[in-house]
Amino acid sequence: MTPCRVGEILFSEEQIRNRVAELIDEIEQTCDPDNLLFVGILRGSFIFLADLVRELGRRGLHPAIDFITLASYGDRTESSGVIEIRSNPVEPLEGKDLLLVDDILDSGRTLAFAREWFLEQGARSVKTCVLLDKTGRRAIDFTPDYSGFEIDDLFVIGYGLDCAGHFRELPYIACAEFTPRP
Ligand code: IMP
Ligand code: MG
Repeated sequence: MTPCRVGEILFSEEQIRNRVAELIDEIEQTCDPDNLLFVGILRGSFIFLADLVRELGRRGLHPAIDFITLASYGDRTESSGVIEIRSNPVEPLEGKDLLLVDDILDSGRTLAFAREWFLEQGARSVKTCVLLDKTGRRAIDFTPDYSGFEIDDLFVIGYGLDCAGHFRELPYIACAEFTPRP
């Protein structure tokens, strides 16, 4: 049994598709996507990253793609504050220009940790792109280079975002409604 249900839809498939295209406009204007290594932070980023790179592909641009698996949450909805690497990227990182892609920016700890870690591995530059930004929840100072939508302090699911491992497959982003314990 999942601990939550699908609540109000915040961003429809069409709104997300349009915003992804706008983000790609911004990325194209400020970077050279053919020479960027896109790094998806698993698992939450897999759908967003897929849509970003397919939009680039439609424009004739072909970035390299890799992943890192980071964890801080477990099955709770509050960050533990400690970030763990569960799986490493495969591509060589030395001298590369990276774009880290995540589903949502909350406390900021995950992306701050990831940016430092990739710089320590020898990346030449590290930019960050998130679909959602809970600007009011920051525990540390962190501003993403590209951001899709700002949202209030709500727990959201869909389009890669999960509640205890479920609902990542939803094509839209919705609020999670928590069912009270009996
Ligand atoms: P941060 O390290 O606190 O910024 O947390 C970022 C990570 O927390 C994201 O990659 C998500 O996995 C998770 N997260 C934060 N808010 C939500 C949410 O509303 N729904 C689902 N996952 C979330
Ligand atoms: Mg995540």
